[in-house]
Amino acid sequence: MKVISTVAEFKEARRRLKGTVGFVPTMGYLHEGHLFLARRAKAENDISVVSIFVNPTQFGPKEDFARYPRDPERDLAMLEKEKTDLVLMPPVEEIYPPGASTWVDVDNVTKTLEGAARPGHFRGVSTVVAKLFNVVEPTKAYFGQKDAQQVVVIQKMATDLNMNLEVVVVPTQREPDGLAMSSRNVYLNQQERQAAVVLWRSMNLAQGLWQKGERDADRIRNEMVALIKKEPLARIDYVSIADPGTLEELSHIKGSALVSMAVYVGKTRLIDNLTLSG
Ligand code: PAJ
Repeated sequence: MKVISTVAEFKEARRRLKGTVGFVPTMGYLHEGHLFLARRAKAENDISVVSIFVNPTQFGPKEDFARYPRDPERDLAMLEKEKTDLVLMPPVEEIYPPGASTWVDVDNVTKTLEGAARPGHFRGVSTVVAKLFNVVEPTKAYFGQKDAQQVVVIQKMATDLNMNLEVVVVPTQREPDGLAMSSRNVYLNQQERQAAVVLWRSMNLAQGLWQKGERDADRIRNEMVALIKKEPLARIDYVSIADPGTLEELSHIKGSALVSMAVYVGKTRLIDNLTLSG
C-alpha cells in the first residue's frame, strides 16, 4: 500500500497505472461501512484507491469540522489489511490552494432534505468529489446508500458533466441492533447509543405499514414521528418520504419511495434511510 499526500505525486503514480481503478472517497475515521466499499473496489478492479480527506467546504460554520473524529494511523492500518493499493491523504492546502474559486453546484436535487437542512453542504461535496475524480481518474467510484441524497447528487453531477466513470452504490452497513455505521457514532454516550436505535425502529415501522399496503405517505410519516417522539433523547430534524429520483416530498406513494430522516440524539445529528419498493 502506498500513501500519497500531494496531488502532483498522485497524478504521477496514476499515469503509471494500467487496468481499471476502483475509488472510495472518505473523510476517514474508518468503520466497517467504509471497509465494505474498499473491499468492493478491490474485488472489482485491478487497482483500489481510497482517499481520506475531511473536506472543510461541506461543513457549515456551526458544524463539527474542527472536532470531526480523526485517526489516520488507525485508518491506514485498516486499509493495509484490506490490501488497498493507493491511499490519497492530502492536507487541505493541496485540495484548496489559496485563491481556489471554482465550485461545482448541482441544482434541484440539492434543494431538499440534507440540502435544505445544511445550506452549502452539497456544493462542498460535489466540488471535492469532482476534484478527487480529476486526480484519481477512477473507472468506478463507490458510494454508500447510507448517504442517499449524496448518491443522487453525485450521479447527477457525473451525468451532467459527462464524467467517464461508473458510480456504484453499496448497501448501508449496520450494527447488530440496526444502527447505521457512522464515524459520528463515537459522539454518542452509552444512553444515547441505545436511544439511537429509534431511527432503525421507525424505518421498520414504515416498512411494516408499506408491506401491509399503506400508501398514504402522510400517515406513515406521522406514525414514524410519533414513535421517535417517544424517545426522550431524540429530537427530529426531518422525517421524509420522497420520490427516490427527484427527492420531492410525496403525499401518496405510487411506485417506490425513499424514507429518510435526520434526528438529533443528544447533540449528535444522525441520518438514515430506507427505500420502499417492489
Ligand atoms: P464519509 O462520511 O467518510 O463516507 C465515505 C463513504 O462511505 C460514503 O460514500 C458513505 O456513504 C459511505 N458510508 C458511510 N457509512 C456507511 C455505512 N454504514 N454503510 C455503507 N456505506 C457507508 O460521505 C463522505 O464521507 C463525504 O461526503 C465524501 C463523499 C468523502 C466527500 O467529502
